[in-house]
Amino acid sequence: MQYETRMALKNGKTVPVRPVLPTDESFIVDLLNKLSSDSIYLRFLRPVKALPKELLFQLTHLDYQRNFALAAVIREDEKDAIIGVARYGYDPQEQLTDFAIVVRDDWQHLGLGKQMLSKIFAIGRKQGIGRFVSIVDSTNIAMKRILRELDYPVNYSYEKGFTQVEVLV
Ligand SMILES: CC(C)(COP(=O)(O)OP(=O)(O)OC[C@H]1O[C@@H](n2cnc3c(N)ncnc32)[C@H](O)[C@@H]1OP(=O)(O)O)[C@@H](O)C(=O)NCCC(=O)NCCS
Repeated sequence: MQYETRMALKNGKTVPVRPVLPTDESFIVDLLNKLSSDSIYLRFLRPVKALPKELLFQLTHLDYQRNFALAAVIREDEKDAIIGVARYGYDPQEQLTDFAIVVRDDWQHLGLGKQMLSKIFAIGRKQGIGRFVSIVDSTNIAMKRILRELDYPVNYSYEKGFTQVEVLV
């Protein structure tokens, strides 16, 4: 499958990464159920107990051009488990491409988030997308550091405790 790859982590393991598929709905639900409330808040900017059906559909049914997502998948308890998702998608109302990422808490700090983000920006760029936007909590130091390390031009604007991040690739 195009865009399938493996990412090397700081703990010496490598993790397979592939595009998100329509059949991933239950894996995305499992991922959400295993995230800490802090990670859920930082990803969705509000507490989320269950993903609304429409959002789950939108996150897993992609055109792989204007809307794309990558999943990092491991084997756990003899089943597949998604431990990280990086996505971008076109927002027709705002007429921009937004992006988001989450890595399961027990897999954070291993270099996965940075690599996945880098990869979706590179994929988007190949599709002709040059600008990605995200609203992040202003306390989200991890995101700001990752974006700094990725070395793309980034513009920040601040409003009511949130930061709009604009990445030019
Ligand atoms: C943001 C997030 C995806 C980072 O994933 P990760 O796999 O832990 O990130 P990495 O291991 O690739 O970290 C890359 C760099 O980010 C920085 N970083 C990561 N986590 C950090 C933290 N908690 N505090 C400060 N810096 C951090 C470090 O500079 C790190 O580089 P280093 O380890 O070489 O010092 C993860 O913390 C997460 O899922 N957070 C909750 C959801 C979220 O905030 N999403 C972003 C908004 S959509």
